[in-house]
Amino acid sequence: MSAPSASVVICGLAAPLSLIVGAFRHDEKVWQIESIFVDMPVAPSTFFASDNFSGAHPRYLEAIARANTGHVRAYGDDQISQDAVRAFRDLCDLDVEVLFTFNGTGSNVVALGSLLQPAESVVCTNWSHINVDETGAPEHILGVKLQDVDSDNAKLLPDDLHSLATALGNVHHVQPGVVSITQATELGTLYTADEIRLLCDVAHSYGMRVHLDGARISNAVAASGGTRQTFRDLTFGAGVDAVSFGGTKNAMLGAEAILLRPGVASPRAPFIRKQSTQLPSKQRYIAAQFVEALSDDLWITTAHHANSMAARLYEKVKSLPGLSIQAPEVNSMYPILPRDVKHKLQEWNFFWDWDVTKSQVRWMTSWDTSEADVDAFAAGVSALLHS
Ligand SMILES: Cc1ncc(COP(=O)(O)O)c(C=O)c1O
Repeated sequence: MSAPSASVVICGLAAPLSLIVGAFRHDEKVWQIESIFVDMPVAPSTFFASDNFSGAHPRYLEAIARANTGHVRAYGDDQISQDAVRAFRDLCDLDVEVLFTFNGTGSNVVALGSLLQPAESVVCTNWSHINVDETGAPEHILGVKLQDVDSDNAKLLPDDLHSLATALGNVHHVQPGVVSITQATELGTLYTADEIRLLCDVAHSYGMRVHLDGARISNAVAASGGTRQTFRDLTFGAGVDAVSFGGTKNAMLGAEAILLRPGVASPRAPFIRKQSTQLPSKQRYIAAQFVEALSDDLWITTAHHANSMAARLYEKVKSLPGLSIQAPEVNSMYPILPRDVKHKLQEWNFFWDWDVTKSQVRWMTSWDTSEADVDAFAAGVSALLHS
C-alpha cells in the first residue's frame, strides 16, 4: 500500500509551530512514525511567492475612492485620465502617447501591435514573459511570429540582433521588426542604461523598433538609481520606443499603462487596444492610481521597499548549509534547495517552483513584505536546513 505523502496532524502534538519531516507509512493498520519533529517558527503573515499575491496600497484604494464621484465621460475622456497622461509626460519628459490597460499581457500585446508592420517578427529571449507566460497571446491576437533567442540571464545582446538581421530583405524569411526586452528581466536581472542604449542603436540601425516590458520597471528604477531621471535613462532616453509600464505588481489594483514614443507607433494604437479588449470604459479608476503614484513617486518608494526586503532575506539565508542562492538585483531570488526541504517549506509557506529538475524555486518580495515576515521566513528556511 502506498504511503500517504503529506504531513500529518497528530492529536495533541500537532501545532502550527511544528512540521513533521518524512512520511507516515500506513502498513497493516499500524501507523509507524519514521520521522522527527522540526520546530518551526510561526509562518510569515505574507507569502514569498509573487508580488501578484499582495494587496493594493491603501493610497491607491483612497485614490480610487476619490475618483468615485458622480458621472464622467467614459473611455478615457475624463479629467483624471488627462491628469494621468500629463503626469506620465512629465515623468518621461516627452509627449508620449499613453494607453491604460487592465493587465500586463494586454499591455504587451497592444504595445507590440502598435510597433509592428506586416510580415514582421518580435525578437525576444527564450525567458521572456511574452514568449513563455502569455499563453501565446501575442501570436494569437497579433498573428505575429516571436523569434526567441537563448539567453542565460534573460538579456538580449547586440549580436543577437546582428545575427537575426541577416534575414532582412529575404522574402522567404519573416522580417525582424520589433525587439522586446524586459526590465527587470524574468530572471531578476537588470540591463544597464548603456546596454539598453546599445541595443536600441543596433535595432534602429536595422530599422527595428524597441519595446520594453516594464511589468517590474519600478523595481529596476529603484535598483538602478531610484530617480525619475533613472527611469528616463533606462527607457526613452536610451532609445526605447514603447514601454509597458507595470502598476499591478507594484501595489496597484489592475492598473497598467503603455507609453509610446511620439511618431514611432501606429496611429491605430488606440484601435489595436480596443480590438485587443484592453480599452477600459471606466478608465478614471486606473488613471487615478497613476496620478497618485506619480504625485510623489510612491511607485519608486514601494519598489525600493520590495527590493530591500529581498536583499534582507538574502543576507539572512545566504550562508545556510545546503542552499545555493545568488544575491538579488531586484525583488526576486532563484535558490536551489534540497528537495525534501523545498517540499516542507512550500507546505509551511507557499512559493513557486522555478525549475523542478534542479529543485530551484523563486522567492519574491512585495511592497508590503515586512521585516518581520522576512525574518520569520528566513527562520523557517534555517530550521529545515539545520534539521
Ligand atoms: C515580466 C512580466 N511581463 C508581463 C507580465 C504580465 O502580467 P499579467 O499577469 O498582468 O498579464 C508579467 C506577470 O507576471 C511579468 O512577470
